[in-house]
Amino acid sequence: MPLKLPTIIGNRGAAAYAPENTIESIHTAADMGCKWVEFDVKLTKDSVPILFHDDLLDRTTNGHGPVADMKFSDLRDLECGSWFSDGFGGIKIPTLEEAVEVILERDLGMNVELKPCPGREVETAEAALDLLSQIWDDRDRLLISSFSHVSLETAMDMAGDWYRSLLLESEPAENWAELADYLNATTINIDGRTASREFIEEIMDTERPVLAYTINDPQLARTLRAWGVDAMFTDDPDTVNDTLFKAH
Ligand code: G3P
Ligand code: MG
Repeated sequence: MPLKLPTIIGNRGAAAYAPENTIESIHTAADMGCKWVEFDVKLTKDSVPILFHDDLLDRTTNGHGPVADMKFSDLRDLECGSWFSDGFGGIKIPTLEEAVEVILERDLGMNVELKPCPGREVETAEAALDLLSQIWDDRDRLLISSFSHVSLETAMDMAGDWYRSLLLESEPAENWAELADYLNATTINIDGRTASREFIEEIMDTERPVLAYTINDPQLARTLRAWGVDAMFTDDPDTVNDTLFKAH
């Protein structure tokens, strides 16, 4: 397939080494040799696509409450590095546009995970894809993924020829294969920490690449690779790369 999928994808950048979903984290992943990074996208109150994982600001910023209640200009007054370590104190939440600029500069591919705040599934996909369609033209180094079927359906309607991934929770819905067919998903992204070999084989039977998140344990990385998993999201690309590709 033309999709240029690497074996290792930096999760939220390289989240074990730098604050997740930041420009610094993307640079760290690139410095560690990642060819692709994954990050999470949601919207501010005024619909600016930003890199952020949680619905609430509290865990990773000095702000409080729902991301969806905060305008971009106010969100930029927050910092998102101190929770991780003092050395990253003061850094800012990036926009999707800023992240893509860095990805282009570092010559990376990307898995854009649409992570809508509740009720904003359509709008989040629309804002993200609208922007991406203006600034990204490397179809073979882009995956749009989501746990939200509505966001994926919107992505399909807006950019039918872009590759999409259906993200599955550790207890996937029984009709996952029908959903994947309906959404014309190119890959299936599973929770590799709980998936069985049988389930991975079931996905492989549909002739779709299997991507596994979030694999930080070297032994698990080796096992999943042996079972035929095509790519892994990891917070720790250095260790997983060493485990899979360097002689021991
Ligand atoms: O896209 C893979 C992985 O990032 C999905 O889980 O919660 O880390 O965004 P989460
Ligand atoms: Mg994610």
